[in-house]
Amino acid sequence: MAPEKPIKKIIIVGAGPAGLLLGILLAKQGINITILEANTDLDKNPRAAHYASIAIREMRRAGVLEDVQKEGYIPEGVCWREFDGTYIAGIKAHVDDPDVMVCLPLDKLLRLYCRHFQKESTGELLWQHKVVGIEQDEGEARVICETPEGTKTLGADYVLGCDGANSQIRKSLFGKEYPGETLHSQIIATNVYYDFHKFGYWDSNFIVHPEDWYMAAKITPDGMWRVTYGDKTGLSTKEYLERQPMRYEKLLPGNPKPGDYKLMNASPYKLQQRCAPSFRVGRFILVADAAHLCNPFGGMGLTGGFADITSLYDCLMAMQNGLTTDKILDKYSEIRIQKWAEIIDPVSRGNFRRLWDEDAIPDRLAFFEMCKKMETDEELQKGGAAFLDALNEDFSKYYTKPEVNGTNGTSSHSSKPVNGVVGVEHVAK
Ligand SMILES: Cc1cc2nc3c(=O)[nH]c(=O)nc-3n(C[C@H](O)[C@H](O)[C@H](O)COP(=O)(O)OP(=O)(O)OC[C@H]3O[C@@H](n4cnc5c(N)ncnc54)[C@H](O)[C@@H]3O)c2cc1C
Ligand SMILES: *[C@@H]1O[C@H](CO)[C@@H](O)[C@H](O)[C@H]1NC(C)=O
Ligand SMILES: *[C@@H]1O[C@H](CO)[C@@H](O)[C@H](O)[C@H]1NC(C)=O
Repeated sequence: MAPEKPIKKIIIVGAGPAGLLLGILLAKQGINITILEANTDLDKNPRAAHYASIAIREMRRAGVLEDVQKEGYIPEGVCWREFDGTYIAGIKAHVDDPDVMVCLPLDKLLRLYCRHFQKESTGELLWQHKVVGIEQDEGEARVICETPEGTKTLGADYVLGCDGANSQIRKSLFGKEYPGETLHSQIIATNVYYDFHKFGYWDSNFIVHPEDWYMAAKITPDGMWRVTYGDKTGLSTKEYLERQPMRYEKLLPGNPKPGDYKLMNASPYKLQQRCAPSFRVGRFILVADAAHLCNPFGGMGLTGGFADITSLYDCLMAMQNGLTTDKILDKYSEIRIQKWAEIIDPVSRGNFRRLWDEDAIPDRLAFFEMCKKMETDEELQKGGAAFLDALNEDFSKYYTKPEVNGTNGTSSHSSKPVNGVVGVEHVAK
């Protein structure tokens, strides 16, 4: 008889882009997956829309890429402009590259993921299951959730905290503090029908200016655009929404008045650079926004989340196939934190500062110079395209074999609590 698989059941908290994609990948491997979602439906806010090469490869592995490409579209490229619209520099997409960026608003992507997840016989999605507490012991991780039928406790081999920036799993493990900082800037993310192409704009544009910087990117084939602009800090949501027509008229090409465009959505956001102290405590694992945050300029946010998914899926499958013990999950935490500190945090800060910071002018000029060189230099183009690959890691070099003289040599379940942690009381000081 084949040795028993070490992972039989996983609970995923949160039906966002991270939770659903992991759910699809793991359910396809015959692992029983329960996704718990606090809300009654998928999130509809204007958020991520652009998925870079490493995300595309993970979508392919999950078998969803074809549908994503069918529903989304491939932007022609990204460029930077002066406030008056003058082109500065740009990077054209390689449309024949199989991993080329695809654009699809997050709410549409979530619906597509959900359809795929619900086709898996080993997957179930429970709405209105809000996790409010956790506990764990040697054999099991458990979540306590509030449901319309009352409080329930559900257990599994592992619990993946994919519950976003305000993650309850992270708070239960480490307390309210999410180490890092809130940037002293306010952004307003809007969705709007307005014809930027008429003004010579590309599919994605960053406008560089000390105060009136913004981003305008076409996010649907039928011409809906995401416009994300800055505003002064310290106002209420109501005040930001009242200022939106005035900001549009000042910023956008053609100085449009409300009748000239169709506004679909507007939400003010704060920009955060944060990272949890560890992405693993025993049988609890943090993924994507629950584990780290960065500002959305340059799309490092969910891109970093996709890299977590790639790493975690590789690690869990190596455990499942008897190639390593669960010590690999400590490596997942260590490497993902390192990637955040060395790449995601500095690159996302640089992407943002490039738009407005006078102190970043030398960096800005060097960056535009590089873009210009890339237009003709194929080697440089390849280097640019491969840049994000540094977010991934080959975990096979960290595999550890179970101790052969132990009581259960075939199981990769550590018989000892990790870091001496058994119950949450020990960590949530
Ligand atoms: C304005 C804006 C623009 C962005 N643009 C981009 C972009 O262009 N490209 C990019 O890569 N990224 C972008 N991002 C970032 C991206 O949207 C996030 O990184 C991504 O949504 C995070 O996914 P997630 O699955 O980790 O969390 P979330 O999307 O936040 O999902 C978490 C889910 O968990 C549920 N949940 C929360 N708490 C509980 C609980 N206690 N119990 C049960 N369920 C719970 C929530 O209801 C939610 O459904 C943008 C973000 C913003 C704010
Ligand atoms: C998944 O759950 C079903 C129903 O409870 C059970 O019959 C099956 O054995 C489980 N699969 C695994 C891999 O544990
Ligand atoms: C079992 O392994 C431990 C180290 O993990 C070692 O100290 C011990 O001597 C080993 N026992 C036998 C019987 O090999």
